[in-house]
Amino acid sequence: MEKDYSSLDAVIHKYRNRKGSLIPLLQEVQEILGYISREAMRYISDSLSIPAADIYGVATFYSMFKLKPQGRHIIRVCKGTACHVSDADSILKALRELLGLDNGEDTTVDMMFTLMEVACLGCCSLAPVIMIDDTTFGKLNADMLPGILDRFRALEEA
Ligand code: FES
Repeated sequence: MEKDYSSLDAVIHKYRNRKGSLIPLLQEVQEILGYISREAMRYISDSLSIPAADIYGVATFYSMFKLKPQGRHIIRVCKGTACHVSDADSILKALRELLGLDNGEDTTVDMMFTLMEVACLGCCSLAPVIMIDDTTFGKLNADMLPGILDRFRALEEA
């Protein structure tokens, strides 16, 4: 069954005659849906008579756009130089194990966490660093990770 994208109609109408407004349009679509699916791209394409390839090109070029559902908490693992030399790889490996993520997977089955690798988070003196949502955790070792994840699990149970 095809999903109903009529919730996007007001946003699409808002940008209908505004040339060069694909980025803000997609930002608002992402706010509504949580991510930008291929079906949503097709809906926008049909509604605005914009080639779907143009929408896909913009959505895949900018890392701010998410093309699949994301977990409720985003874990950013810094892979910048300072973190890399401080063994960010072991932090990433430990997180993948704790979250039960196989290679190629980035979101937990319960949709609680999405794991992503990022460049410098801007606090290199704390390497290795991760950020969960808006909170930074530095000078990490793998033993600290279960407690950090439990803090976020507890937030959801509260
Ligand atoms: S390299 Fe990781 S915070 Fe800068």
